[in-house]
Amino acid sequence: MSLLDIKNLSVRFGDANAVPVVDGLDLSVQKGEVLAIVGESGSGKSVTMMAL
Ligand SMILES: Nc1ncnc2c1ncn2[C@@H]1O[C@H](COP(=O)(O)OP(=O)(O)OP(=O)(O)O)[C@@H](O)[C@H]1O
Ligand SMILES: [Mg+2]
Repeated sequence: MSLLDIKNLSVRFGDANAVPVVDGLDLSVQKGEVLAIVGESGSGKSVTMMAL
């Protein structure tokens, strides 16, 4: 069983027509596992973690 299991996370700012800044993210973390999120500036790392 995962400690954290996220399926199809999307985040958008504004109304339902706004382009999502996070779109369809799947992510899981197992017990004892360390996960690093790496990506270019503006790719959605902080927004993803704040959504969690
Ligand atoms: N409050 C907000 N309103 C509208 N757009 C936002 C808001 N916060 C973040 N964004 C947009 O969401 C996208 C992802 O931003 P985010 O801050 O998650 O990137 P990041 O991967 O953490 O970048 P960095 O490496 O620079 O920290 C960017 O296009 C950013 O402009
Ligand atoms: Mg950031």
